Amino acid sequence: MLERIAGIREEAAAAIGAAGSTAALEELRVHHLGRKAELTTILRGIAELPQEERGRVGGAANKARQELEALLESRAAGLDASELEQQLAGDRVDVTLPGAPPRPVGHPHLISRTTRQIEDTMVGLGYRVAEGPEIEHDYYNFTALNHPPGHPARMLQDTFYVQSHPEVLLRTHTSPMQVRAMEMQSPPIFIVVPGKVYRRDSDATHSPMFHQIEGLAIGEGITLADLQGTLQAMLSAIFGGTREVRMRPHFFPFTEPSVEVDVSCFQCEGSGELAGGERCNLCKGQGWIEILGAGMVDPNVLGFVEASGYDPERVQGFAFGIGVERVAMLRHGIPDLRRFFDNDVRMLEQFS
Ligand code: PHE
Repeated sequence: MLERIAGIREEAAAAIGAAGSTAALEELRVHHLGRKAELTTILRGIAELPQEERGRVGGAANKARQELEALLESRAAGLDASELEQQLAGDRVDVTLPGAPPRPVGHPHLISRTTRQIEDTMVGLGYRVAEGPEIEHDYYNFTALNHPPGHPARMLQDTFYVQSHPEVLLRTHTSPMQVRAMEMQSPPIFIVVPGKVYRRDSDATHSPMFHQIEGLAIGEGITLADLQGTLQAMLSAIFGGTREVRMRPHFFPFTEPSVEVDVSCFQCEGSGELAGGERCNLCKGQGWIEILGAGMVDPNVLGFVEASGYDPERVQGFAFGIGVERVAMLRHGIPDLRRFFDNDVRMLEQFS
């Protein structure tokens, strides 16, 4: 009997030591110390044992029971602690991690992208990029660009003037930089000037602020044919394929002759008709799209910068001005110019 008690004790102690969870430990407690356990049965039967065995067997069984209870208790404490630790480790929040998924990095606005593409094309042709002030003097915006006094473009409905300084205004075009650039650099000069311009105008195709890119080429022997070739290269790069360029007579105060330039439609390849035979919606069946204003720089303009080496008898050249919004609208089928400036990301992120 004593041997059996020692055997139970040993077996139970080993199992308790190996228990992996408090649930397993509880099972062991029931198995070894519960009402139906062998040791419990032994203790219950002590009274029936012969007198001389009762003391020793009872003592050994009680001692085994106490030992096992103590083992269970300490093992339970150890398991409790490690289970808590595990749970805490599982629940741990790393507050150093970003709270939300990383936001996508932005991208240039479609107007910036279109501007850069045109700049890149012109840089490829040997032009430099120059920028100038948006708040401009009447002299550069009008006078030196050969606007006679009383020219309608000077009138209030077109131009934003600074109230306290009527000779200061928001530039209505990028052309003032023609004069500023020629003041700073003697000929030859080949520049493009991107930037914001301002006019009192607002509807689906006009905004009080919009973007232009000015081109200026002055040197010896530069002709209208050079303008045509330059624009053909530039417009082919912008609209794709090999574009044709058509010039129509026009008027600008600072160019003579002045032209309005059409580019052959890039959607119908100039035919005016789509594949199915219906009229091309982009050029309205014309095969041509009006795209920019240009001309040979008026000798009167060169006269304002003669001191910088622009002798109208010796040098000549061309200038052009193209609207960036119009290019982007045509190329991407955007019907309303105001969408560029509403800054609705659903619109803007389509052009990344
Ligand atoms: N500055 C003119 C405009 O804004 C465009 C232009 C530029 C015309 C250069 C001729 C030469 O309408």
